[in-house]
Parts: sequence; structure tokens; C-alpha cells
Amino acid sequence: AGEGAVVTVEADQPGAQVHPDVFGQFMEHLGTGIYGGVWVGEDSPIPNDGGYRTDVLQALKDINVPMVRWPGGCFADEYHWRDGIGPREDRPVKINTNWGGVNEDNSFGTHEFMGFAQRLGARTYVSVNLGSGTPAEASQWVEYMTAPAGTTALARERAANGHEDAWTVDYLGIGNELWGCGGNMRAEYAADLTNRFVTFTKPGTGEMLKIASGPSDSNYEWTETMMKISGKLIDGLALHFYTRPRDATWEDKGPALGFPESEWASTLDHTMEMDEFITRHSAIMDKYDPEQRVMLAVDEWGTWYDPAPGTNPGFLQQQNSLRDAMVAALNINIFTKHAERVKMAAIAQMVNVLQAMLLTDGPRMVKTPTYHVFDMYEPWQGATALPVDVAAPMYEKDDVSIPAVSVSAVRGTDGQVHLALVNVDPNNAHPVTIALDGVNPAGATGRILTARAMDAHNDFENPEVVTPTAFTGARVSRGTVTATLPAKSIVVLQLR
Ligand code: AHR
Repeated sequence: AGEGAVVTVEADQPGAQVHPDVFGQFMEHLGTGIYGGVWVGEDSPIPNDGGYRTDVLQALKDINVPMVRWPGGCFADEYHWRDGIGPREDRPVKINTNWGGVNEDNSFGTHEFMGFAQRLGARTYVSVNLGSGTPAEASQWVEYMTAPAGTTALARERAANGHEDAWTVDYLGIGNELWGCGGNMRAEYAADLTNRFVTFTKPGTGEMLKIASGPSDSNYEWTETMMKISGKLIDGLALHFYTRPRDATWEDKGPALGFPESEWASTLDHTMEMDEFITRHSAIMDKYDPEQRVMLAVDEWGTWYDPAPGTNPGFLQQQNSLRDAMVAALNINIFTKHAERVKMAAIAQMVNVLQAMLLTDGPRMVKTPTYHVFDMYEPWQGATALPVDVAAPMYEKDDVSIPAVSVSAVRGTDGQVHLALVNVDPNNAHPVTIALDGVNPAGATGRILTARAMDAHNDFENPEVVTPTAFTGARVSRGTVTATLPAKSIVVLQLR
């Protein structure tokens, strides 16, 4: 085993809540993320519940998906909600200009999205079209979704289309990536438009938090301007950050599988920049919002590789390996650390697109390593974040030098302390010693996710190559937990 890590967890400190919606998911009209992946229609030979794949629904229910963001992404700023209501056969066919130039038949629209969220028991995040739409169109969509039954012409139209009662829109996205595909705007102009849209989108029922289009990566000027001009009117600012193995250009990101160790290292190094981005965006937000009323919503995050060989490059399909599981775990640890400001996030994207939970092909479905991380971290949803101090040896490869061990700790809604221990070193096991302040548990049970190869992954032929197994290697004595983390492993422990 390599050098040991020494950890202290202040289990008796009151911390911020890890909002369940930090485990949110993003679904866009993109490739087979919705069509084929979630929605197959009632007449499909693929088993479905009202048009939604039953295998996908069940798998997502099993990880307790708390919130879903829809319809985009870049798609949102070209979407006109009226195209997606009424009899499906009458809905217009359009071209999905952002993603592969394929036909969009609008068979998945507002009712289908809300039906999906309802089946999952998930909160809803709907992004309105600011880039090419009007405040009137956005305002009418909000009214259509949220006006109480029977009250307005739009509420009656909703009922005529099959849904009498108002839905709850928990989050309203005010455009998406307004600095890019959402309209290539300057921050000042985007903020003025945000204020205009925010003013005219009023929910008929329920609390609806308004999330402004925020920065990507280290665009701190964007955050400064948005907070200065719109900070008082919005409830959240979005942050987007995609992890690429090679981040010099978007043309050459690196493959999802068959990569060298140098790209294992660079990917994990890059993804850990999330910590700095959140820290610095939060510091700017603190200037304008010292009470931390406005959340930082990391509503697009995850890995982005070169498209899988032989696939439509506009569909953003990629395999998902143990490396992706590492990325997921590291980011969740970072979100836990920043629970005060990061109250919502959405991994991109839920099914078949980028860092997906599930991959489908016709009637087949497979759970990815990332899915299993979301499963293992379920006790984090709604838990209290506990302060953690980690002194870890470094993992070094070429010009990368990062801590070999990452840790987060929470007190779950079950009252128990849960620990997540991530060893990113692909070559060495590392012992960890965790001193627990304020608790003296009798024992620990846990699960581990690891595999032999760095790019180990699940496919339709071999769906359980990367799957959690019981971890029995933790010892607990006098308020201290010790364990040896195998190379490239994620261990989640529940203390008892
Ligand atoms: O998730 C894919 C795309 O990435 C989204 O549509 C866009 O918002 C981002 O650039």
C-alpha cells in the first residue's frame, strides 16, 4: 500500500443541508436522450408505462432522482412550447438544428415531461426560450403549466389536452448559455433580458425559483455582471463546467475508452477545478448577496469525450467507465463541501448523452458506473454536510499532482454518519485513518466500486463489470475508522 491519508470529520458540527436536488438530472432533446432512451410511445414493442420505458423508469426510481431539467440546453432557446401540446399527430415536425439536424416531431412535450417527472416523483426544472422567444411566450407557458384548474383560458386548454390540475414548476430556467448557443450575448444585455423575463413569468401556483443563465468554467466577469444587474431578482445562477481529458480545444477531447494513464490523471485533475470555480464564483456572489439567498446551480456538469466511434457526432454518445465514476464521486464531494451555496445541480445528461446514468439500445438498457455512484451516494440527499479535513498523499503522473484521496462526510436524514472515500490513484492502495469528532460508532458497513482496468465499463453483453460490492475492510475503534482503499476505488461507509 502507498502512503496513508489522515482525515478528521467534525461529526458534531452543524452544517449546511446537501439539498437533494444536487443529485438532479438533465434531459435534453438531443440524440436518444429522450426519444428512444426515455420516451418510446404507447405503441412501442419496448415495455412502457404510458409511453415511458419501464426499465428506465425503474432504474431512475431506484436512485431516487430528485429533480429533472428539461427541454435543454441549447435546444431550449429554440423551443416553442406550443409545438409540444395537443394531439401528437398534429404537432409540427421541425429540425433539431443544435443536435444532429434530425427531425424533431415534438411528441415529447410539456405533458409528457410532467408525466415523466410525476412518475419519478421528481421536482421539475423547465427552461424557457429567452434567446429566440419573447417574454409573452414564456409567461404564457408558465401560466399554461401553473394556473389553477379552470381559472384561465390557458388552464382550460391544459385541461382539454388532458391535465386538469396545475403542475408545479419548481425551477424556471431563464434561457441557457446566453453567452453562447442561447444568443451570443454580452453579459450586460443578457442580464437586462433576464430581468425582463423574470418580471413577466409569474407562477399561478407553487413556489417557482428562477435560475439565470450563468457562467461557464472560470468566466468570473459573467457572474459579476449578472449578480450586479440581476442579483436581486433571481433565485439562482447556473454554472456549467464540462470535464475533458484534453482541454486545449473542443475538437480533440480524448476518447471515452482505451485512454492512457496520463488521461486518467488529466481528467481527474481537470474535474477538480470545479472546487476553484465554485469557490471563486461564490466569492463574487457573496459581494452582492451576503445572505447567500441566490443559489449557484451547477445545472450542467460531467465528462465530455470524443463521440463514440460510428455514432452521429451531434448525438454526444459516449461510453462511461470507472474514470467517470471517479469524476462523479469527486464532484459530489466538492458539492458537499459547498452545500451552503450549491443547492441544485444537474449532471449532463441522464440517459444516452454525455456522462449518462443509463445507456439504451433498442430494448436493451445498461447501468453505467456513474449510475452506481449516484446510488451509493443516496444518503447524501437532504443530509447535513460535515466539515472534513484531509491530509492526503499526492497522486502524481506527468505534470499532474492531485491528492490521492478525496473525502466527504454527512449526517444522513437517518441520523447516521456516512463517509465517502475516493482513492484516485490507479496504481496504489492507500490506508486512511479517520478521526471522528463527537461520535463514537460501534461499526461500519459499506460498499465499494472498483475494477481492474481504468476504463472498465458496462455494456449490453457485460452489464456488471463495474458494479458495487460489499466492503468489509473498515475497522472502527474509539472514534476512529481505519480502512485501506484499493487502487482506483470509491468506498461509501455507513457508521452505526
Ligand atoms: O449538454 C450539452 C450541451 O452543452 C447543452 O445543450 C448546452 O447547454 C451545453 O453547451
